[in-house]
Amino acid sequence: MSTKLELLTPLNSPQLSFKNRVVMAPMNRRRAEGGIPGPSSIIYFGQRASAGLIITDNTAITPNGKGYLLTPGIYNEAQRASWKKIADEVHRHDGKIFMQLVHAGRIGHEENNEDNSSLVAPSVVTAQIDIRIAEKGHLPASQPIALTTKEVQELVQIHIEAAKRAITAGMDGVEIHGAHGFLLEQFLHPHTNHRTDQYGGNVVNRSRFLLEIVEGVAAAIGKDRTGIRLSPYYKINDLPLYDEELETHRYLTDELNKLDIMYIHLSNRLIDGVRIIPQDYLAEVRKRFKNVIILAGSYTAESAEAALKANLADMIAFGRPFIANPDLVERFNNNTPLTQPKEEYFYSGGDIGYIDYPALSDSCTTVG
Ligand SMILES: Cc1cc2nc3c(=O)[nH]c(=O)nc-3n(C[C@H](O)[C@H](O)[C@H](O)COP(=O)(O)O)c2cc1C
Repeated sequence: MSTKLELLTPLNSPQLSFKNRVVMAPMNRRRAEGGIPGPSSIIYFGQRASAGLIITDNTAITPNGKGYLLTPGIYNEAQRASWKKIADEVHRHDGKIFMQLVHAGRIGHEENNEDNSSLVAPSVVTAQIDIRIAEKGHLPASQPIALTTKEVQELVQIHIEAAKRAITAGMDGVEIHGAHGFLLEQFLHPHTNHRTDQYGGNVVNRSRFLLEIVEGVAAAIGKDRTGIRLSPYYKINDLPLYDEELETHRYLTDELNKLDIMYIHLSNRLIDGVRIIPQDYLAEVRKRFKNVIILAGSYTAESAEAALKANLADMIAFGRPFIANPDLVERFNNNTPLTQPKEEYFYSGGDIGYIDYPALSDSCTTVG
């Protein structure tokens, strides 16, 4: 059987072309002292540049939007300069890289913010989760302060400025983090959004913040360089399911289609063999959104190929497989078994479990 996997075929969007449909999923590896990705991150991303598209760690747009300890940022010049080295390295290897922009909102702890500043959120609803603090173990998430209407509007602008800064850092585009219970999803969700202004109340109002950000970012850097990640039905970071979840996501998908952005990336977790996003909703997204769809969540080469063949996606994102297999694309191409990642180094360990996973070509040269 020598037919080439569809996964390994190129994809051309109006502005950008991708050498294959394998995406490196965004993964915050929490190794950025002061929010500045270090020299090892240049190696890490360069090693993985055979992906059709790399999406960076979630990268904070403000000092109080980091969520976790040692999250990278894109809110100052030192951070921008470091990301520029990473983007240049990926381009040197003929890769493409988008930066995932995050504001974590109520997820986090004041002690992890450089200036111990407060967390902010749509409303004062504290996340019932624990957060790792430097040298103190885990503490309950801090109580957030509710944003004023003016501050919400300022945060729209801050997202736009961060996107522009990412482009000046050499990024090919940005992915707006609308998933996994961070600030944008806190606005979508009635559990965390009790607002009475134009950013709260019904589905349209709760979606307004996210859509204003997408519209502003697309206008600033180009709609063909703008993507978004969403995670319907995920139930992560203390967000339960809600009655209007389907209605919300249908509305968002239609509005994102009107904004004509490059892609929607759906984080589609697999639990006990069952995907959280029903197949018929994925088919519906395909009908409602005409540009690129990326799916992520425990995909293998086989299940990725099946999703592409079923026309449910154009690209598939792989997270953990990319941690342990820098040459994942080559391994898919050769049908070579994958190395299993060491979970204890996902979020710490310095270079260990970060840049020390060998590529197949590394082991070839040591024979003899
Ligand atoms: C170490 C680690 C860090 C992650 N960080 C992020 C992140 O920064 N942003 C995000 O949207 N998802 C993040 N995720 C989720 C991944 O993008 C991906 O959706 C998830 O790992 C499922 O894909 P997989 O089964 O191929 O690993 C992270 C996952 C892991 C394992």
